[in-house]
Amino acid sequence: MKKRILTGLRPTGKLHVGHYLGMLKNTVKLQDEYEVFLMIANVQALTDNFDNPAKVKESIKELLLDFYAVGINFEKVTVFIQSEVTEIHEIFIYLSNFASIQQLSHHPTLKTELAQKGFGASTPLGFYIYPLHQAADILCVNADLVPVGKDQAPMVEDCRELARKFNAMYKTEALKQPEVLFGVEKNVPGIDGNDKMGKSLGNAIYLSDSEEELRKKVFQIKTDPNRIHATDPGTVEGNTVFLYHDAFNPNIEEVNNLKERYRKGTVGDVEVKEKLFVAMNNFLKPIRAQRVEGENKLDELVTSAINGSLKVRQVAQTTVQKMKQAMKIEFPTTVPAPTVAYEDFAKLDIRVGTVVHAEKVPDTDKLLRLEINFAHEKRQVLTALAEFYAPEDFIGKNIPVLVNLAPRQMRGLESQGMILATDNENGKPVFLIPESNVHSGAKVH
Ligand code: TRP
Repeated sequence: MKKRILTGLRPTGKLHVGHYLGMLKNTVKLQDEYEVFLMIANVQALTDNFDNPAKVKESIKELLLDFYAVGINFEKVTVFIQSEVTEIHEIFIYLSNFASIQQLSHHPTLKTELAQKGFGASTPLGFYIYPLHQAADILCVNADLVPVGKDQAPMVEDCRELARKFNAMYKTEALKQPEVLFGVEKNVPGIDGNDKMGKSLGNAIYLSDSEEELRKKVFQIKTDPNRIHATDPGTVEGNTVFLYHDAFNPNIEEVNNLKERYRKGTVGDVEVKEKLFVAMNNFLKPIRAQRVEGENKLDELVTSAINGSLKVRQVAQTTVQKMKQAMKIEFPTTVPAPTVAYEDFAKLDIRVGTVVHAEKVPDTDKLLRLEINFAHEKRQVLTALAEFYAPEDFIGKNIPVLVNLAPRQMRGLESQGMILATDNENGKPVFLIPESNVHSGAKVH
């Protein structure tokens, strides 16, 4: 069985090249080999954007487009939206008994972020508990692996610890302890040389930047501040422009040559940057093109994320159930009978048709192909009754058919409806035959 991966991003704006190197590139690489769950962490994004939920909502689209643009395959990867999997919050609340305020107050990532945001004594609880909530994201799908950058590794350790404590307390294996999966070889600072690249810092190159924007930003990239003239020998190590070359210029020879000349003082910043621009533009070109394609099918991407969320819910419900069983707090579940709304039932169009032709579909023992006449049209219907009936059993019969079913391809033939039959004790379905005075095309109510 494929190992399961969970990773995610907060929707707070367009994604930049740092996101790409930090996790997207790796996720694209892993999507064939692993069962990947990719979360849009919109609930987490609200913890420091609750004053602007519209921005978070809008950013979900940006994220979907960026995912599609870099080559995330929505058929393989389960992209999902955190707020649509409410089980995560249930899991979180049971986990929260296993962490203390004291622990959170020493959490390295949280501490840094709190200092940056300067919340002080009015730190919102939502933000304070997000590292804990994040563990529930991972545990809800029983992830085996979490691909993160180095700075996020403590998050996975937190998650393991919570799972371990929960399992130990209730003598269970309900929660799986995930492992960290490192994959980032190179990341880049912001164009101003700041360690972190970010929107608020105004130092990011976005995956969706146009050629002009890219050029402008590349020429703003910080270089060796001590080098005034192109003829001054410069430092390559830790030099932002060369960190970018290392990350984005596949022409190693060119990069080495530039580095050598930079050290000697025989190359100007303009040439170094022009070559970086060309390399980065080559990298971004196909991403931009794919993004345009994504914009044309944005509805499909959204639907896919909603369906993905439903799938994750199924998995997460099992996790919740296991946790409750472990704590022995579960109640027997009664499965409610599925119901169909009146309005939905009324959408079914069932009509009586006359079978004018019937034959076996070649190369299968299952299917019969029926041609059925209704008052004003003829349809082809494939039915899996060949085991029980011969074509002759159908010919000339008036039978009810569901006619507004979406057509479906079977063995290269289109089935344009479904006949109605009842169960029988010996397993042989019996098709319904209305009274002989029912005319072809009559609607069934
Ligand atoms: N914290 C991540 C970010 O800042 C998003 C995230 C939420 C996440 N839950 C996660 C990442 C679980 C990996 C695993 O974008």
